[in-house]
Amino acid sequence: MIKVKDVTFSYPNGKEALHRINFEIKDGEAVGLVGCNGAGKSTLLSLLCGINFAGEGSIEINGVTVKKDTLKQIRRDVGMVFQNPDEQLFMPNIGEDIAFGPRNYGLSEEEVEKRVHNALQKLEIGDLRDRPPYRLSGGEKRSAAIATVIAMEPSFILFDEPTAFLDPKATNTFQRIALELRIPFLIASHDLDVILNICDRVIILKNGEIMADGEPYDLLCDENLMYRAGLELPASFSRCKHCPNNCGEDLFKKFKVRRLGE
Ligand SMILES: Nc1ncnc2c1ncn2[C@@H]1O[C@H](COP(=O)(O)OP(=O)(O)OP(=O)(O)O)[C@@H](O)[C@H]1O
Ligand SMILES: [Mg+2]
Repeated sequence: MIKVKDVTFSYPNGKEALHRINFEIKDGEAVGLVGCNGAGKSTLLSLLCGINFAGEGSIEINGVTVKKDTLKQIRRDVGMVFQNPDEQLFMPNIGEDIAFGPRNYGLSEEEVEKRVHNALQKLEIGDLRDRPPYRLSGGEKRSAAIATVIAMEPSFILFDEPTAFLDPKATNTFQRIALELRIPFLIASHDLDVILNICDRVIILKNGEIMADGEPYDLLCDENLMYRAGLELPASFSRCKHCPNNCGEDLFKKFKVRRLGE
């Protein structure tokens, strides 16, 4: 259970990036976080994993308040997939990068190997195991960064733009993995179709404040709300809404259910 209470945060230069943020995430809930560039998404994720600390208000992860002296526990509970995968990959090869976290927890080499193997299999990137991160494409790095977090088996995952640079197949793989996760996650993304496909709920940020919090379909397909948030309708919805058969929302709902059922 994640509890964010009245959180305000300013960067050292005085820029207030978040203002009086309140929400809770229940166990097993999949939540999307959307908003235009500079809305405060990455800043909020940085507070949830203890990279930055709230100036006012408090954040609790599974009953533990995020502060400097609880960081060890928080880092164990919270996995973060950074917006920039270069921040996540620093070992000589991807296998070592994935092994780094589990090994740091003091797990046996047998268990570490199992975690590495499983993460590579899940992301379908077994062929990257011996490759150095700096010789990978943007999308390959992204998948490898996601694998490093999956291997740590955290109890809450933060994804910051996890599908940026991913091709459609890798995006689908990510969506499948996310749907299989039995733990809560918060995913900041500009890909609203991904949010529609895998989230139970979406939070819309604007200028560091929450402007809406609710069911993804209701919010993301509300043209007026999206316009006010500075966003566009999800691509699949626009395609459906403007298709020559003029079939509208109902078909879109069926289309969504079918895709989720795949
Ligand atoms: N290190 C920093 N110092 C000062 N201001 C910052 C810093 N990092 C971000 N900001 C500012 O804080 C605000 C929120 O930025 P943030 O990175 O959280 O936005 P975002 O919603 O993740 O945007 P994007 O979609 O571009 O990733 C922006 O106005 C940004 O310019
Ligand atoms: Mg960001």
